[in-house]
Amino acid sequence: MDFAQVQTFLADDWISVQDLFKGALYSDATLMNETNTYLVSNEGKMLRPMLSLLVSKACGNVTDESKRVAAASELLHNATLLHDDVLDQSSRRRGVPTVMSMLGSKASVLAGDFWLVMAVDTILGCRRYSKTLLGMFSHTVKDLVDGEMFQMEKAESADTTRMDYEDMIYLKTATLFETICCAAAITAGAPRKVENAVREYGRNLGMAFQIKDDILDYDGADLGKPVGTDLREGKITLPLLEALDGVEPKRQAEVRRMVKEIPEKEGNVAKVEVFVKDRNGTARAAVTLQDYVNRAKESLEPLDWSPAKDWLLKLADYCAYRTI
Ligand code: FPP
Ligand code: MG
Repeated sequence: MDFAQVQTFLADDWISVQDLFKGALYSDATLMNETNTYLVSNEGKMLRPMLSLLVSKACGNVTDESKRVAAASELLHNATLLHDDVLDQSSRRRGVPTVMSMLGSKASVLAGDFWLVMAVDTILGCRRYSKTLLGMFSHTVKDLVDGEMFQMEKAESADTTRMDYEDMIYLKTATLFETICCAAAITAGAPRKVENAVREYGRNLGMAFQIKDDILDYDGADLGKPVGTDLREGKITLPLLEALDGVEPKRQAEVRRMVKEIPEKEGNVAKVEVFVKDRNGTARAAVTLQDYVNRAKESLEPLDWSPAKDWLLKLADYCAYRTI
């Protein structure tokens, strides 16, 4: 998927969102400004604002509020990453050192707070719907925090089930995709039937996106962050769950114990990776991934055909084949 083409398609709306996004990042503190400049110069795929604008456009109407939702979605996403890098003690993201590794945890938490509050501020600037949108976004932040707490709990116990995994990736990733799509539809004045359809699309897309992320953590080349990170962080994700499926209980317990002991036994990472490879864990996880991609595409059936809808369908496929 050519993101530059999507940006060209979104034309002036994309430029307005960039202006809103960058305009929200000015601070009176020099260190905050320098940090923000560094983060903006290493911005990611900008997938969430693109998704947001495409949904509003597919619903027929990009309003001022739609642009604010798009900008807020990227501000909030970056806020979560700045906090997540502290939780995970990650030294690299998007191919460059994290704020956490350069300036320390305190600066990364404060920068995350700044971006979070600027996301709220951007939503508050909506002339219409601001209360509804704020309610939706705060509910999502609660889900994100719950998801991270749940993940921490499971990293200790190493007893993640498939249902735990699905709940966790909904809370930590899909909930934001769902809210972005729903908010984008509301700001476009879409009828309830269309709002529900894009909410469903966002949820399925988010689930697919996180499953692919988890597959790439086993299979990927350089993602801008080291491969094998999830295991080192004690995270039992879908490729490992698939590999464990059908294995005799004693061996399952043994593998889970190996994961639990990774902090003391680094060599266990390679052993678990071999186990996942031998049992085709990533190929089996890809079946579930494709299922979510198909469901995302089907969810859009109530929407009339439009070039924006076509991009949304392509975006669903991109979740399955992306390499970064
Ligand atoms: C990345 O997941 C992290 C998330 C998707 C969500 C992080 C959410 C929080 C830290 C909640 C608190 C946030 C705020 C702003 C109050 P990952 O660690 O699996 O992926 P990664 O490999 O990209 O780090
Ligand atoms: Mg992380």
